[in-house]
Amino acid sequence: MTEPPIALIVGASRGLGLGLVEALLGRGWRVTATERKRSPQLAALATEALAIETVDIDDDDAVGALRGRLGARSFDLVFVVAGVATAIADPLHHVPRDVAAQVYVTNAVSPIRFAEAFADRVTPGGTIAFMSSILGSVTLNENGGSETYRASKAALNTYARSFEARHRGRPFGVLLLHPGWVRTDMGGADADIDIPTSVAGMIEVIEGQIGRRGIAYPDYTGQPLAW
Ligand SMILES: NC(=O)c1ccc[n+]([C@@H]2O[C@H](COP(=O)([O-])OP(=O)(O)OC[C@H]3O[C@@H](n4cnc5c(N)ncnc54)[C@H](OP(=O)(O)O)[C@@H]3O)[C@@H](O)[C@H]2O)c1
Repeated sequence: MTEPPIALIVGASRGLGLGLVEALLGRGWRVTATERKRSPQLAALATEALAIETVDIDDDDAVGALRGRLGARSFDLVFVVAGVATAIADPLHHVPRDVAAQVYVTNAVSPIRFAEAFADRVTPGGTIAFMSSILGSVTLNENGGSETYRASKAALNTYARSFEARHRGRPFGVLLLHPGWVRTDMGGADADIDIPTSVAGMIEVIEGQIGRRGIAYPDYTGQPLAW
């Protein structure tokens, strides 16, 4: 009998992370899911296939402690979902520097540092995934808007390409996923699609990625996006 695949989902207290955990469990995966503070919704998914851990990706000591707690366990999927959209509606010159800097750190710097800490914890043939956005595409930015958020996801894409280049030859692939515009706290009630639609699509893309190397930037339907 083959072992079920195992995922580490980072930022699973609500929204897309929580939806991914629920859908992966439903497909027979084992999941280690992280929250910053206790999430009743995540706790409600309790099964023996789910382990819940605590980490703030902006805190290197907390990331190191998580690595220590998880020991030598390796994952078929490490997916850094966590992100923020603080002051997304404001043009850059209206956003205080410290706020713009925090969006950049949480969305671009911390996911890559997390992946770096777990790069040797990925099963051969596995995937490191980052939650990007179509708004991270420089090519597709024809109408502006969402300035600090866009820039942070463009930086995430650039850092992920460098991360993949740095680790080329290691036995994992890297995915930058656009989940669609999804009805979550961040996406809002007017967004195009619901969480189950987005996560079902992303899981299909992820399962199709198993065993592939290199880096790809698709949306939740598998459509590649322009960088
Ligand atoms: N919704 C969309 O339409 C959409 C579109 C494109 C991309 N995305 C991306 O998808 C990801 C998830 O978005 P969402 O819509 O599910 O947003 P959400 O409902 O606002 O959830 C954000 C999640 O990130 C966690 N988080 C934030 N900062 C963190 C940190 N420093 N350390 C650990 N966890 C942290 C939050 O934890 P707490 O509960 O502790 O705050 C929460 O679990 C984000 O990266 C977002 O940029 C979303």
